Amino acid sequence: MNSPLVPLALALLVASSWAAPADTARYSIANSTSASEATNAVTTTLPLSADSSMDFEMLVSMGEAAFHGADISEVLKTSLYIESGNLESFSNAFANLADQKKAEAEDPYNSKDPTNVRDTYFSAATYYRAADFYLHGDWSDPRINEYWTQQTFCFNQAIATLPVPGQRIQIPTPDGFTVEAIFYSKDPPGTACKRRTLVVGEGYDAGQEEALHFVAFAALERGWNVITYEGPGQPTVRRMQNLGFIPEWEKVASPVVDYLETRPDIDMDQLVLVGISFGGYLAARAAAFEPRFKAVVINGGIYDAHQAFLSQLPDQLLSLYNAGKREQVDQAIQETINNPSTPISLKWGAEQGAWSFKISSSYDFLEASKPYNVTTVASQIKMPAWVVNAGADQFYQGQAPLVAQAIGDSATLYNLSGADGYHAQAGSIQSLNRDMFAWLQEVLPSPVQAYPEPYPVPSFPPQATQSSII
Ligand SMILES: *[C@@H]1O[C@H](CO)[C@@H](O)[C@H](O)[C@H]1NC(C)=O
Ligand SMILES: *[C@@H]1O[C@H](CO)[C@@H](O)[C@H](O)[C@H]1NC(C)=O
Ligand SMILES: *[C@@H]1O[C@H](CO)[C@@H](O)[C@H](O)[C@H]1NC(C)=O
Repeated sequence: MNSPLVPLALALLVASSWAAPADTARYSIANSTSASEATNAVTTTLPLSADSSMDFEMLVSMGEAAFHGADISEVLKTSLYIESGNLESFSNAFANLADQKKAEAEDPYNSKDPTNVRDTYFSAATYYRAADFYLHGDWSDPRINEYWTQQTFCFNQAIATLPVPGQRIQIPTPDGFTVEAIFYSKDPPGTACKRRTLVVGEGYDAGQEEALHFVAFAALERGWNVITYEGPGQPTVRRMQNLGFIPEWEKVASPVVDYLETRPDIDMDQLVLVGISFGGYLAARAAAFEPRFKAVVINGGIYDAHQAFLSQLPDQLLSLYNAGKREQVDQAIQETINNPSTPISLKWGAEQGAWSFKISSSYDFLEASKPYNVTTVASQIKMPAWVVNAGADQFYQGQAPLVAQAIGDSATLYNLSGADGYHAQAGSIQSLNRDMFAWLQEVLPSPVQAYPEPYPVPSFPPQATQSSII
């Protein structure tokens, strides 16, 4: 591991004026450091790095603190060891923190209390995911699997101690791959109380484990069951089955619904699909072909991912691409990736795209991204659809209104701005969940209180008041 690097973030924070940001102000750090950051730096909160991509990723990890997935100060502290634009420093700093949390979880002194071990393992898992995040440029980097193995181990240790332990499930599909899922039940085994159920998928990069902290804990607290799932291109399936993304996401989501139909504890009339980030495309696509979902949350709205990817390209590269110059595009993108002044968001987007689609040529990747649009299928979505439009979305800006428009009457466009305006509401997931469940209460057929009572309700966390009946 590297020794601590120049704490650029600290220098930046000290240099910045605290007096400034009014709630709606964009906080620009354009003149803080290099030109590449200047093109790339618009944020709604006090930045944790001069690089907007690193700032955002730290906010994602820190935001998981709201639901048992991180601690705030240790992420803030870690930001001091991360040099803007230096991906190794990011990976090493989070790996160090993760190792430290894992050791704390394994300390016999702490293990006398299963709950504090649980949360410590959850934090370790979050930080191993962060350590992995920027590593996918070199497919042979052993850390890609090492850190993931660690995050999976820590996460499994943690979910085994939930009031009702989380259960990993493999769902075979007719298309030859296996969906990796985790089921979180509100009730102990054998309690066949049918409940509202969320089916949650992440997107281009995040593991299903993140979804526990993002929405699943919030759903359990509100009396729902939850299943998270991953298909081709997503972290576990990409690693274990060696499969890149497929656009026909109903081939992934429908087998999950088939599985849920076999369970006695699912209220199939109140089954809701949630897609996060690039999962906004995946969920919309699946909802267009899978009427057994009764509502869909599209967070955020992605009308045409191919267009969004093209919009990230500098003009010269775009011209080469439009002219069909495969080799020149590949060479230029490789040079761009290797150029230290390239914004990390662009470098990461290209590298993560190649890895997750399992297509090493950038030109071929861009070609392969064409079917990832909902231009023609959105009108097939007949269920209520909540389409999130995040005002500061750096990836799919402007696309959510088009999705809502294409779906038509059953869509609700939900605008978020200010502190809630980040892509996938990084750092404000408490307010995201409040808004999302308020909308679900409105559109689902019967309120959650209508479940038969009394039935055993495990309180969460287990040491909390014994009388809480949801
Ligand atoms: C940053 O640049 C703006 C103009 O673009 C200027 O008004 C401001 O004073 C600069 N801030 C610092 C800290 O240099
Ligand atoms: C949108 O996706 C469809 C496949 O669903 C594809 O045939 C079409 O070419 C895509 N549109 C664009 C503009 O890339
Ligand atoms: C939401 O934002 C879109 C533009 O992104 C705008 O057209 C629309 O009027 C906004 N809706 C509300 C309710 O503010």
